[in-house]
Amino acid sequence: MITADSTRRFELRKCLWPTPWGEREALGLFPIAPESDSEGGESQPTVVDFMSNAFLHRVRRGVGGETLIRATGVKESERGGLRVIDATAGLGQDAALLAVAGFRVTMFERDPLLHALLADALRRVQEIEGRRPLALERLGENLRLIGQPTDFVRAQESKSRDEALDSIDLVYLDPMFEDEALHGKAETKRDLSRLRQLHRPSPEESLHVPPVSNRELLAAAQAVASRRVLVKRPLRAPHLVDEPRPHGQVEGKIARFDIYPGRPAR
Ligand SMILES: C[S@@+](CC[C@H](N)C(=O)[O-])C[C@H]1O[C@@H](n2cnc3c(N)ncnc32)[C@H](O)[C@@H]1O
Repeated sequence: MITADSTRRFELRKCLWPTPWGEREALGLFPIAPESDSEGGESQPTVVDFMSNAFLHRVRRGVGGETLIRATGVKESERGGLRVIDATAGLGQDAALLAVAGFRVTMFERDPLLHALLADALRRVQEIEGRRPLALERLGENLRLIGQPTDFVRAQESKSRDEALDSIDLVYLDPMFEDEALHGKAETKRDLSRLRQLHRPSPEESLHVPPVSNRELLAAAQAVASRRVLVKRPLRAPHLVDEPRPHGQVEGKIARFDIYPGRPAR
């Protein structure tokens, strides 16, 4: 198992994590060196958690009103048959919302440490099978993670294309936005700041594999989605690329979802 990122800024370690079903063993992302914004003591790990009280409370209020779900433009009764790729899964929170809303979601994540955290979070959901609230039942049934850390664009271009890319209705993109002010709770800020550091490749890595551009990311998503591509942006941020422009958008309080058409019918 991979336990540290290539420049050794973070490592994965097992830790005890609170859940509504008591403490569970979970995989956590720990900083190796003290973090500039840490307030002393051992830093809290970043854990992907689909069973947190905050997430369960959020979905109990109903996911249909979530801006992301509204941006899909799909009625609840039609969602069960639709397949979605979250091409930039990160900590999986948006993918989890889509899965609870009823879509069949496959997550792509290229960073090996985040991929391991996502796999561990799915394992913990499966462990409480039979005692799960409806939201977690749906999540357990609908949410999948691609087997290996995978760059979505490279996978889409590959000759040995993964069958997870076939018959996809929607592709969701939430690439990192560098200038975004970090808002939200302290844990959210900490997790976002770590995500950002992982996302930034070292100069040696950039030489080895050229970074994927936003243009390539959007083109790959449009080549895969038959209905639409959704791109999450901070409310006042520019569009992902200058051209093509989105043909619609749905705004929430802090983010908006730009809507692009999928591929032309074959
Ligand atoms: C802002 S985070 C996504 C947060 C996510 N929406 C959530 O709810 O937690 C962006 C993530 O996309 C991943 N990523 C960016 N480009 C990618 C690509 N081409 N293929 C796979 N993953 C990618 C990054 O490693 C990072 O973890």
